[in-house]
Amino acid sequence: MDRLEAAALEARQRARAPFSGFRVGAALEEEDGRIFAGCNVESASYGLTMCAERVAAFRAVAEGGRRFVRIVIAADSRTLTPPCGACRQVLWELCGNVEIILMNLQGARESMRLSTLLPRPFDAKFLD
Ligand code: THU
Repeated sequence: MDRLEAAALEARQRARAPFSGFRVGAALEEEDGRIFAGCNVESASYGLTMCAERVAAFRAVAEGGRRFVRIVIAADSRTLTPPCGACRQVLWELCGNVEIILMNLQGARESMRLSTLLPRPFDAKFLD
């Protein structure tokens, strides 16, 4: 297991998921090698819940990360858990066509580019 995968699994253990019980960890790698991890954080309002991927991405930006290479998403599901639609949009805008690695606790992995999950994305290009 590489450092990024280990960081995603470790972050998953810090998930605050009292409502769904579904714990997710994400770890985003900067071009310079730094790793920014996040976990899902649920709200009793449900709607204010934040996914692990967006926690990792926003944290990365807040800590000065700018160019990202890979993100690992770790969850305890037999079928590997892909990022939700909102996270795909945010990842596209902050990370571009980043490599996405899905993994579970049994060690299954699958890797793809974000453009596979979010074809024909909307982004700042359209606002020119
Ligand atoms: N969740 C994530 O953190 N990432 C995903 O890719 C899918 C869903 C969280 C949100 C919520 O806390 C819980 O998983 C159930 O949807």
